Amino acid sequence: DDPKDLEFRSPVISVMGHVDHGKTTLLDAIRKTKHVDTEAGGITQHIGASEIAINDQKIVFLDTPGHEAFTSMRARGAKATDIAILVVAADDGVMPQTIEAINHARAAEIPMIVAINKIDKPGANADRVKQELTEHNVVIEDWGGDVIAVEVSAIEGSGIDQLLETILLVAEMEELKANPNRKALGIVVEANLDKGRGAVATVLVKNGTLNIGDNVVVGLASGKVRAMINDSGKRLKKAGPATAVEITGLSEVPKAGDKLIVVDDEKMARNIAAKR
Ligand code: GTP
Ligand code: NA
Ligand code: MG
Repeated sequence: DDPKDLEFRSPVISVMGHVDHGKTTLLDAIRKTKHVDTEAGGITQHIGASEIAINDQKIVFLDTPGHEAFTSMRARGAKATDIAILVVAADDGVMPQTIEAINHARAAEIPMIVAINKIDKPGANADRVKQELTEHNVVIEDWGGDVIAVEVSAIEGSGIDQLLETILLVAEMEELKANPNRKALGIVVEANLDKGRGAVATVLVKNGTLNIGDNVVVGLASGKVRAMINDSGKRLKKAGPATAVEITGLSEVPKAGDKLIVVDDEKMARNIAAKR
């Protein structure tokens, strides 16, 4: 893209960390909704995308599973995003998937913000968490490093405002830009087969604008975008940079991590997909 075509865009954040350290609960606190109760056994099985707005500022969040079986999903989550929130439970400390999440953020070359969660618990020890993070070369600001840590309780809702302020601050320093006036480029964060609607994919638009009727190739799937809805169920006609939308109209179910591109016509979309 020509620099003169670039405009500021919203940040996209991945929420990562060890299993049960409170990623989904933290997102619920941020959204002030309740998603944890609807998950099977309280275990996140997929990457969900949600959007919030603080005044006029939009932030997009991707929740990732902490279970060790989901390494590749966390890697894709980190890759698709601008900033990683590393959730560490203050009573449990740095655990295997914490370390793995640190490595994903490093590989993706994105900044990290540490959310020291469950600070309400009797066994909470934020200093121990900071010490353990230092052992993995994540050095918190008040220990002389450059990583910001915020103490939060997702359950009680404490520290959430400070965490959001920190996200906006870090995002501002990243100078995130995109060109809304080009064909969309996106990445699939989750996809499934719906009985009524057929193949449904949640796509994060990274650059450009995706429109209803656009001819797309998504991994091995192709099609024409039939409908788009955002995370609050609203129907959209277009989705600009840093927007997560559920799309229908694909020939088959793509895989999480697949790239979405827009091509000139339906035939071309089918041909490109068929050659893959
Ligand atoms: P996975 O997606 O399975 O990796 O888990 P997660 O990191 O999303 O954790 P989840 O939000 O499912 O929370 C796990 C458990 O910790 C739940 O029982 C939550 O109620 C509890 N929990 C989360 N945050 C807090 C907190 O701030 N304080 C306390 N006391 N409990 C919390
Ligand atoms: Na959980
Ligand atoms: Mg979860």
